[in-house]
Amino acid sequence: LAKVEVELASIPEGKNVVIKWRGKPVFIRHRTQSEIEEARKENWKTFRDPQSDEDRTKKPEWLIMLGVCTHLGCVPIGEAGDFGGWFCPCHGSHYDISGRTRKGPAPLNLEVPEYSFNDADGKVVI
Ligand code: FES
Repeated sequence: LAKVEVELASIPEGKNVVIKWRGKPVFIRHRTQSEIEEARKENWKTFRDPQSDEDRTKKPEWLIMLGVCTHLGCVPIGEAGDFGGWFCPCHGSHYDISGRTRKGPAPLNLEVPEYSFNDADGKVVI
């Protein structure tokens, strides 16, 4: 299956990029230290789709997930919504800075695809 490589050094801290992978958008966010703390301080066990930030990331500074709303498949907007993450304008789903569904109709967190880091050349392979 097709893989895509992304040069991580080109993504500054505090920025999102969107790439295409198998016809779908993939969001990559280079999280700041305060965003990582925000994502990890919450009691995720009470969330609709309970998942820890540690389970959703391989390196805390890199959040990588499909940009497809788990409600009906729109593309959420970054740096928006009530939880400092993403907002889906189609029917008002709010995702946090770990991509977890927090408010609105989305039943599940934004999906994390398979990926691996290639530390030798500073790339992620999705
Ligand atoms: Fe995103 Fe409905 S498709 S809220």
